[in-house]
This record gives sequence, structure tokens and C-alpha cells, in this order.
Amino acid sequence: MLNKRLETELNKQLNAEFYSAYFYLSMSSFLANINLNGFANWMKVQFEEEQFHALKFYQYIIDRGGRVVLDKIEAPQIEWKNVIDVFESVLKHEQKVTSLINNLVDIAYVEKDHATLAQLQWFVTEQVEEEANVNDILDQLKMIDGKGAGLFMLDREMKLRKFTAPV
Ligand code: FEO
Repeated sequence: MLNKRLETELNKQLNAEFYSAYFYLSMSSFLANINLNGFANWMKVQFEEEQFHALKFYQYIIDRGGRVVLDKIEAPQIEWKNVIDVFESVLKHEQKVTSLINNLVDIAYVEKDHATLAQLQWFVTEQVEEEANVNDILDQLKMIDGKGAGLFMLDREMKLRKFTAPV
């Protein structure tokens, strides 16, 4: 059974993951509005991944006999300067999520909750991948200065991304 402190903290992370989903969906709509439909697709796939993360916390809380408490979701940012600005805000966001996950790991250590530590390891690894993917795209965007034929080609590549449930 989960102790109260961890139950509260895991519920906060469940909410943070739903906020992440919302944030990516907001970026997807912004990018669709500036005709970057490939990048909009990439963000929509990310929206689905974040819902998957949220549901992973949801199921874990239930499996451990805890109570899921769904809280309100904060409204996300809706405007950016350009596509580079969008990916810079993604990177900042994912770095923040990484620190939230690391903080949860610290709490699970203090509470000596080995099952939660094992569960959180998946998220620790996932965050490495999330940050690396965003860094790669951001580097490529900077190489082409976020415009022109390079942007057109990159947008086409982004259109190929499809959601597959992570393992
Ligand atoms: Fe759920 Fe992008 O971290």
C-alpha cells in the first residue's frame, strides 16, 4: 500500500503529465496554424505519449491501493515567436519534468518504497530519451536557421512520426 506522502506526490505527477499533454497539444495547434503540419503531427504524437505517461501513473496508484485524485489542469502557453522558440520551450519543459521525476525518486528513497523506485526507473530512462530527441530537433532547426527549404524538408520528416505505446 502506498503511504500518504507518496500518494500525494504521485497524484501531482499524474496531473503534471496531463499538463504536458495539454502543452504539446497547444504547440501542435500553433504549428498547424503556421502551416508546419509535420511539426504539428510530431507534437500531437507527443500529446499521446504524455497521456500514456499520465495513465501509467494512474494505473500504478490504483495497483498500489492508492486513491487517484484528478486535479484541474493549468492552461498552457498558446503563442510562440517561431518554431525554434517552440522547441526551446519544449526543452525547458522536459528539463523541468526530469527534475520532477528525480525529486519523486528522492522521496521514494526516503520513504523506502522499493516498488515506487522500480516504477520510477522507467520514467528516469524515458526522460533521457525525451530530452535527447528534443535536443536533436532543436540542433537541426538551428542549423537551418528555422526557415527556408531546410525547414520544409524537416517538416516533411516530422510528418512520418506515429504513436506507438512505449515499452
Ligand atoms: Fe511525460 Fe515528456 O515527460
